[in-house]
Amino acid sequence: MALYSEKVMDHFTHPRNVGVIENADGVGEVGNAKCGDIMKIYLKIEDDIIQDVKFETFGCGSAIASSSMATEMIKGKSIHEAMALTNKAVAEALDGLPAHKMHCSVLAEEAIKGALQDYFDRNGIPYDDKDFPNSEHCPHCE
Ligand code: FES
Repeated sequence: MALYSEKVMDHFTHPRNVGVIENADGVGEVGNAKCGDIMKIYLKIEDDIIQDVKFETFGCGSAIASSSMATEMIKGKSIHEAMALTNKAVAEALDGLPAHKMHCSVLAEEAIKGALQDYFDRNGIPYDDKDFPNSEHCPHCE
């Protein structure tokens, strides 16, 4: 079996939603302390719906594929649905990632959560801190 699925290769070579949203409603940036890769997510939100999402990823192919897939999965969805997105769901949607690359998909989940947290903070929307685990203590990145 090839190391990477066709979907991973497709999203790596043709990533969707790459770029920046000027005047975004929420921006999230996370870095993986171990590999040094960085991911930034921009959200445009109206009426609790993610109208647009863009990303910049300075990282490995799996991180780029994960960002691309994750942004596709939350576009047009509600904030609530975006909050529920897990790195496992992203990896499954990519038809899997090698075990040692799972931590790359964690960046996507955390960057999206970071952008949502930023949106909540800017708008004075209350949230539960435990829904936003500190990426520096991410158990997947050991
Ligand atoms: Fe750093 Fe993939 S190796 S995110």
